[in-house]
Amino acid sequence: MKILGISAHYHDSAAALVVDGVPVCAVQEERLSRRKNDAAFPGRAIDWCLAHGRVEPEELDAVVFYERSMLKFERILTCALRAFPRSWRSFPHAIRNTLGEKVWMRGIISSYLGVPRQKIFFTDHHASHAAAAFLAAPTRCAAILTADGVGEWATLTAGRGERRPDGTTEIALAREIRFPHSLGMLYSTFTAYLGFAVNEDEYKVMGLAAYGRPTMLDEMQKLVRRTPDGAFTLAPEYFEFQTTASRSYSSKFIDLFGPARSPYDPIDLESPEGRRFADCAASVQRVLEDLLVDLARQLRRDTGLSDLCFGGGVALNGVANARVLAESGFERVFVPPAPGDAGCALGAALYADRLYFHQRDRDVPDHPFWGPAVDAEELARAAREDGQPVEELDDPAAIERVADELAAGRIVGWMEGACEFGPRALGHRSILAAPHAREMRDRLNRDIKCREEFRPFAPVVPIESADRYFDLPPGGARLARFMSGVFPVRPEWRSRLAAVTHVDGSARVQVVDREMAPRLHALLDAYGRRTGIPVLLNTSFNVAGEPIVTRALEGYSTFRRAGIDVLAAGSTLVRKPALAPARPGKEDIAWWSESVAGSGAV
Ligand SMILES: [Fe+2]
Repeated sequence: MKILGISAHYHDSAAALVVDGVPVCAVQEERLSRRKNDAAFPGRAIDWCLAHGRVEPEELDAVVFYERSMLKFERILTCALRAFPRSWRSFPHAIRNTLGEKVWMRGIISSYLGVPRQKIFFTDHHASHAAAAFLAAPTRCAAILTADGVGEWATLTAGRGERRPDGTTEIALAREIRFPHSLGMLYSTFTAYLGFAVNEDEYKVMGLAAYGRPTMLDEMQKLVRRTPDGAFTLAPEYFEFQTTASRSYSSKFIDLFGPARSPYDPIDLESPEGRRFADCAASVQRVLEDLLVDLARQLRRDTGLSDLCFGGGVALNGVANARVLAESGFERVFVPPAPGDAGCALGAALYADRLYFHQRDRDVPDHPFWGPAVDAEELARAAREDGQPVEELDDPAAIERVADELAAGRIVGWMEGACEFGPRALGHRSILAAPHAREMRDRLNRDIKCREEFRPFAPVVPIESADRYFDLPPGGARLARFMSGVFPVRPEWRSRLAAVTHVDGSARVQVVDREMAPRLHALLDAYGRRTGIPVLLNTSFNVAGEPIVTRALEGYSTFRRAGIDVLAAGSTLVRKPALAPARPGKEDIAWWSESVAGSGAV
């Protein structure tokens, strides 16, 4: 069976193609349209998926949209009516937005692809999240937890999934929390209050939380009330997201927490105001973690299972995920590389395959690389046309050369194979650099990322060496496979991994399995042979405001505009003629030579 999955119109549209039960490809619209967080109907992503899979639209057995648009419309209408007359200003806007395209998805898909309407199906939003988390994970029986802002009505679901020996599949979501009681909305409300972009900058709240203390838990208790069944409700008087799209918090919220931060004001962590914002972030982060741990603990008790599959946008919170792993009793926690709505395109297609059409269960390859592949020839052509020297090496030589450049303190744009599906660069569209000196972090923030200094960069390490540098609990390496957990850097390594160690001593580490990313694994080994530490700084290959690069040409353009010294597409390399000085900083040289001499190859 050939099934196309689509997610669109909320945030990060995407398409995915599943053939005979196995994903063939998946891509977010933003990676092709080059508009960050593109939420439009994903025409480019659909076209690319069909072309890549060599499937004509008329050959498709089904097209599955990731949520039930009419139910979502019903929620918006109901909430607006409940809030009338307060909602009268925002109501026409909400209706226009919803009626514009979202409700009429069947017609839009049918006319875009020319497929008959009876081939178009809809899944529940949280069923799509659940399928993306469970059906793509290497487990046969697991508890399932999903949490996001909101789908149709559900904001959190809990249940279990089973892939049975007879080839049948079951996903049963027995429990549901409904809008407006939403962990995602709670976190997004603080995201807006702290002056960040909702649905985009939630991770900045998590980063800022490490600078604060959870001093506002009493205030938080007024907002979030625990219920006897272990769930929670949000006190509606503190929120406005349920009635208007223009502001998510009420004046009562301001009375409780103080004035909101303007997005244009820098955060000065030395000032009382800056510390208040950091404490707010720490408080909401603590509440989110505590709730998730309690819900997961209860799910563990109810199911008696040892694996948990966790999906939905809330599963991007790596600090909370690490606590769930450590405290809920689950032995393994699987978070997919695209737990948010983009991943629902793949989830919806897999759900339809297994649960609508009852196709036989199949293993889904355990990697995030489902997008367009990089074309090294394209890089060579672009660089030559631009008058830049190009080196086309064999593969081992290219890896050794890149390791030399990194060990000399240079910043490398690293493009390899198919691009990642999901928000994180996991070694196929990454900017890599030496992780040792704080100056490297500052240089990346200043010259490439143009971002707040409180935001940490992530390290990447081979699985064989991960425990030496990072304090991973049992199951931690699995969570770190797709950079889904934040774990402590071992204290003795923090000063030597200063560019990737957050202020609280933690890091959102990616642990690389040779089988999943052999070239990145080889590069880490080669870097370790030079420096004694096989750890690199890994950040997404993009500049502020742009999506992660997809094609070699986009990588080249970013390389030319930003402070990247070397660009690699496969084993084709381009270097800037005037490079940064070798070695990241004087103070590093002592330990560097010491560690190379002392420990030898790692
Ligand atoms: Fe969602």
